[in-house]
Amino acid sequence: MSKTRRTEIPTASHGQSSIAGSGQYPQVRMRRNRKADWSRRLNAEHQLSVDDLIWPIFLIDSKTPRTPIDHMPGVDRLNIDAAVKAALEAAKLGIPAIAPFPYVDKALRDPTGSEAIKATNLMCRAVAAIKNAVPELGVITDAALDPYTSHGHDGVLDEKGRILNDDSIEILIKQSLALAAAGTDCISPSDMMDGRVGAIRTALDAAGYQDVQIMSYAAKYASGFYGPFRDAIGTNATLIGDKRTYQMNPANSDEALREVALDIAEGADMVMVKPGMPYLDIVRRVKDTFAVPTYAYQVSGEYAMLMAAIKNGWLDPDRVIMEALLSFKRAGADGILTYFALDAAKRLKASQ
Ligand code: PBG
Repeated sequence: MSKTRRTEIPTASHGQSSIAGSGQYPQVRMRRNRKADWSRRLNAEHQLSVDDLIWPIFLIDSKTPRTPIDHMPGVDRLNIDAAVKAALEAAKLGIPAIAPFPYVDKALRDPTGSEAIKATNLMCRAVAAIKNAVPELGVITDAALDPYTSHGHDGVLDEKGRILNDDSIEILIKQSLALAAAGTDCISPSDMMDGRVGAIRTALDAAGYQDVQIMSYAAKYASGFYGPFRDAIGTNATLIGDKRTYQMNPANSDEALREVALDIAEGADMVMVKPGMPYLDIVRRVKDTFAVPTYAYQVSGEYAMLMAAIKNGWLDPDRVIMEALLSFKRAGADGILTYFALDAAKRLKASQ
């Protein structure tokens, strides 16, 4: 963990002629270390490695192996066979883990997300197939109801449309147990209900799943940057209202530390900040405050922004993709959930 160091900036100019206000120039020339590639590499403070990557993928029950997602060029929904192939490719490149998300058939969605808790649902079948084919690849799965509810919320609602915290947790527990039985390595509660991490931890342990990890979406903001994801899982047209009564206010930073503290106390093994690039300040505060494994999610909207500019020829993919990912490491993240994971892993391999 690199705490921000306070740098003493000397002001004496040692009697040398100097540019006004430039301190120790010309004895100290910051550019000297940048003069050649070897020296820039030697002096690099942070590095991105394939070990830092978690690859979110989208699943769909379909005969067609891949169906494109309009708002995420280059990302497809995969059927289970294609997802297994993708998992094999990820493992081959050395990516530690994938995070699958389902596009659930609209006919299977209902107000309580009842499909979420079924052992035979798309997620459970995909997790089992992936773990069977690629046991060494980590599989991280969301606990949240939004892909399964007819209203698109992460929990269940009362008759006035308010999210019922504790009732939602009861369902999230069952969803987590179904995913654990299917063989998931890690549950990732992304619902932002109060107390869900502790409740899921207790239930997993009681059922004999002490080894199943929890990576909590600890500081998850009510963000506009999730738009393309909601296209990918088919909730953008169905979501009634917004998620501001459970996801965090983008104006807040101290509150993120309270959220993270609670999740750690409730048994989270890893914590996540989401979205990514607009919230790098939160990543840094979380890492400095708690020194626990800290992850950032470069979300669908961040991917879409970069891809839109890349597709228009306005940004150079060979520069901006890795630069954006490195920013997470610089901010203190231990790893990044990114739709660029496969691309980044290939770039890292090619640069070796
Ligand atoms: C579901 C969930 C969301 C994302 C991950 N899990 C969307 C949301 O909360 O509405 C967003 C991921 C992305 O935008 O890439 N709870």
